[in-house]
Amino acid sequence: MSLKDKEKWNRKYRMPGDHSGEAACEWLADNTDLLTGAGRALDVAAGAGRNAVFAAEHGYDVLAVDISEVGLEKARARAAKHRVSIRTETADLDAYRFEENAFDLILCFNFLDRGLFPGLRQALKPGGLIFYETFNLDHLKYTSFRQEWVLKYNELLRVFQDYRILRYREVDSGLAGIASLVARKPSA
Ligand SMILES: C[S@@+](CC[C@H](N)C(=O)[O-])C[C@H]1O[C@@H](n2cnc3c(N)ncnc32)[C@H](O)[C@@H]1O
Repeated sequence: MSLKDKEKWNRKYRMPGDHSGEAACEWLADNTDLLTGAGRALDVAAGAGRNAVFAAEHGYDVLAVDISEVGLEKARARAAKHRVSIRTETADLDAYRFEENAFDLILCFNFLDRGLFPGLRQALKPGGLIFYETFNLDHLKYTSFRQEWVLKYNELLRVFQDYRILRYREVDSGLAGIASLVARKPSA
């Protein structure tokens, strides 16, 4: 990821109508029953923090990581508005060193960098949960995204095949194609 991309996202988050006003992603909100609310959570490419703040409201000690300091500034403001606190880290995930066996919950929404899969798998504690949701191949019908920016069919199932898949779906809504997963890392 280049400085140009960082600037692109900063500009986006400075514009009115960005993600900061939105509620947490449905895939997270609809599966709240799986959240224990105990321990540390990592929100990867957290943006303006809608999911990070949701996790903090559900009892997690949250670290939100993103390349955009403007997005993370909004995330902190959002946390304050919701009377919770989150930690934020401005970092390029392309060159990020994940803490190993550190997180009880990992969230990754609307972001795909296949190079991160090993790091995410290592960062999760045994018994921890990962929520992953982003666009899949069906989405190419609706956008000019490049094929490598979207998940292949069943790709998340393959990446986390040794985890216990708790919930999974691929939905083509007619406006977007999205794959969503919740999986638990096996206990040591
Ligand atoms: C579509 S937004 C998703 C934000 C958030 N997950 C959500 O669903 O509201 C993608 C996010 O990825 C971040 N991002 C893109 N490339 C990145 C990189 N190399 N390292 C860290 N964050 C990056 C952007 O700044 C942006 O906040």
